[in-house]
Amino acid sequence: MAGQIPPQFIDDLLTRVDIVDIIDSRVPLKKAGRNLQACCPFHNEKTPSFTVSPEKQFYHCFGCGAHGTAIGFLMEYDQMSFPESIQELAEQVGMTVPVSQAVSNTPAKQNLYDLLDKVSQYYVHQLQTHPQRQVFVEYLKARGLSAQTIEQFNIGMAPDGWDNVLRTFGGSPQAQAQLNDAGLLSSNDKGRTYDRFRNRIMFPIRDRRGRVVGFGGRVLDDSTPKYLNSPETSIFHKGSELYGLYQARKANRRLSRILIVEGYMDVIALAEQGIHNAVATLGTATTPDHLRQLLRSAPEIVFCFDGDRAGREAAWRAAENALPMLGGNHELKFMFLPDGEDPDSLVKQEGADSFNKRIDIAQSFSDYFFSTLESRVDISSLDGRARLVEITKPFLRHVPASMYRDMLQQRLAELTKTNTSMLNRHLDKPAAKPIKREIKPASGVISPVRMAITILLQHPSLHQYVDRYSEIQTLALPGIKLLLQLLETLHQYPHLNTAALIERWRDEPSGAHLQRLALEPMNLSVDGLKHELAGIVQQLQKQAIQERQSYLTNKPFSQLTDAEKEEVKSFK
Ligand code: UTP
Ligand code: MN
Repeated sequence: MAGQIPPQFIDDLLTRVDIVDIIDSRVPLKKAGRNLQACCPFHNEKTPSFTVSPEKQFYHCFGCGAHGTAIGFLMEYDQMSFPESIQELAEQVGMTVPVSQAVSNTPAKQNLYDLLDKVSQYYVHQLQTHPQRQVFVEYLKARGLSAQTIEQFNIGMAPDGWDNVLRTFGGSPQAQAQLNDAGLLSSNDKGRTYDRFRNRIMFPIRDRRGRVVGFGGRVLDDSTPKYLNSPETSIFHKGSELYGLYQARKANRRLSRILIVEGYMDVIALAEQGIHNAVATLGTATTPDHLRQLLRSAPEIVFCFDGDRAGREAAWRAAENALPMLGGNHELKFMFLPDGEDPDSLVKQEGADSFNKRIDIAQSFSDYFFSTLESRVDISSLDGRARLVEITKPFLRHVPASMYRDMLQQRLAELTKTNTSMLNRHLDKPAAKPIKREIKPASGVISPVRMAITILLQHPSLHQYVDRYSEIQTLALPGIKLLLQLLETLHQYPHLNTAALIERWRDEPSGAHLQRLALEPMNLSVDGLKHELAGIVQQLQKQAIQERQSYLTNKPFSQLTDAEKEEVKSFK
């Protein structure tokens, strides 16, 4: 993908944007010496180990090892794709991303975003002006929604009729095709095409950046289907969108907890009562993708389910999907509502304070996990306890090796009146996957080539002190090719900074290696590094020339080419 946007554009972009602004507007930074710091947004911590270097235009967390450029930050934090991050940064500094034919996909998507945004505004406008608006307004009022909340969630109405949207937005065959791509049309067996959403309250669904990607529409009466949702489109994937996440992130500078509920109206009713951290899946189960996004947004996730059987089943499915994500710096909790209630009905009945108390006493993952499994056996008998071990085993295997998994095992040992060493003999541990941790400073001797690469990467401007280097390409040393490439790149583009260099190697096998070297602590002053770099390259150059000379002088004279003979004459 990186190849589609000219590297020089990315270079320019990264010298114009300031990573400090980009991060500070999302995660407030404090000055700490030459760098800036904050508590890491990618893991939960109390003392800041997330560091941003204005010089290198690079961030790094000493706690969890997260690191990258401004582009990488947006990809991680805002869940953007590579081209989206570029677009976002370019907009901030007023640059236009050159569109090559290869990225033709992006403008098409952009058109869909624009269209959905306009249609969303249209639905809102209808709710304000349509002659039949009264019954919609009354419905929303009866559900207890204030004008402010209606505005916050951009709730609108699709008027009755087959072709309101089609007529307003489908003026040409291309425009109609776009409406169809946006999921706004339906068609019957006879090939007749009409508006998908008719006579419904409209809830625009926004992605986490706030772009409208689809709609949910609710009927005003008991007809079915109660909710109609946009179909999957190129920009709308139910398995990865969460209703309300954009609004929750907007309403809270820093989310310490997210509540995940089942319905649109639950999210909205909770917001109406001042609880602004709820999100809903879109009529699907909670997917691993949902969980990953949520865990990136807040350190604590509370699942809120109905107390009925369907709710219990949905909860267990969510718990199973969460197993591979356990053991990090986050907590998952479960709460069950009284039978027959949903968050909407309950918060209206008992108010925000009581509802918040329920959230506070939500069950921890481990309590929920073991109480559910325990209820499937007779824990009072030896046979039942042995079965508990058997049915728990496959679940534990999905939990990454961690202190948390050890503690779950210990709990299982207590419950089954065994001990962990006995359990360990039976739990066939899958290969422990170490969590990526802080990069340790290279121990022992660093090779001169690696040192030179590191200096160039961390202080690109020092390349100007390198004299001649072209001969080093003949050396058979690890890293020599990379060093040469770096020198050549900087020779051609002398003003690149660390971030721009790293982005140039994003898709190369050596990219990850370069990112690590960019973090390597350097104990010399810049002046010292300058001499070090110049000295290393000089030395390498000398070594290359010597190797060449001894190769040529040892080669029988009769076998030398004419050019080589000339070369030999020039020695001394
Ligand atoms: P519920 O039926 O529990 O909705 O469905 P709710 O939020 O309580 O709705 P109200 O209070 O009657 O307005 C929960 C979610 O399941 C999906 C929707 O995403 C809804 O928010 N759903 C439900 C559908 O997609 N289609 C349906 O027909 C019903
Ligand atoms: Mn409801």
